[in-house]
Amino acid sequence: PLAATGTLVARATARRGAVAAFNVITLEHVEAVVAGAEAADAPVILQISENAVRYRYGRLLPLARAAAAAAEGARVDVALHLDHVQSDDLLRQAVDAGFGSVMYDAARLSYDENLAATRAAADWGHANGLWVEAELGEVGGKAGRDGRVRPPLDAHAPGARTDPGEARAFVADSGVDALAVAIGSSHAMTTRTASLDHDLLKRLADGLDVPLVLHGSSGVPDDELTAAVRGGIGKVNIGTALNVAMTAAIREFLAAHPDAVDSRKYLTVGREAMARTVRELIAVVRGG
Ligand code: G3H
Ligand code: ZN
Repeated sequence: PLAATGTLVARATARRGAVAAFNVITLEHVEAVVAGAEAADAPVILQISENAVRYRYGRLLPLARAAAAAAEGARVDVALHLDHVQSDDLLRQAVDAGFGSVMYDAARLSYDENLAATRAAADWGHANGLWVEAELGEVGGKAGRDGRVRPPLDAHAPGARTDPGEARAFVADSGVDALAVAIGSSHAMTTRTASLDHDLLKRLADGLDVPLVLHGSSGVPDDELTAAVRGGIGKVNIGTALNVAMTAAIREFLAAHPDAVDSRKYLTVGREAMARTVRELIAVVRGG
């Protein structure tokens, strides 16, 4: 059934675990995430990013309604989250489209501008029943609104990491329900080679009373993910790993079946590969 992001994250962190949040782009992604979560018998978050909305001809509703229908019919709890929202217009569509939570992303701005924009988004979100996540510091490697990807691994550049003192002030002054932190992961990595700053994570977790969110988790190896969850990460965002699994499976299928025409044949292997990845990653991050 459809569940609330805040509830799932609170339940997971109460037993020192995390909820996996998967980015979905197509209906096959949606179905694979639900199938993988059902196979793991665990709750999951389906998230649609502003980038994915742009891919869907700028329309949120078709994929959002499909995700809501999949959540309602699931045998496990499934929450709907709108991810990396920069546009106020998109933010305002969240409630009617069925989302219970949003990540408002103003991390590209200066501290003061990020705070002002995030506080306004959190105020509006709370008045409309949303659980609001924001980002301080910057997890790099993500395409901006112009479609250009920021340089990968600028998570390691000085200043990109989340400062614990700033984080305390940012959470208190913005009123957000969760904070995405830059601790060494980077978006869109196709190899799992990121190493996280666990000391920084500990300082952040010790100083904050909201759940912390890890972005760019596709590039983080299993043992690092496990350690991050033990260290206070309550929501683990995973996108690229699904596309890596889907594309490899389809590529292999088409190479073995060069005459294949029916798209269901290769979308099925792609969907099954994503569902396996979902199941495996949930097992890594669910904890306790
Ligand atoms: O918000 C989405 C995530 O941070 C996904 O990042 O595609 O690198 O796993 P990823
Ligand atoms: Zn992200």
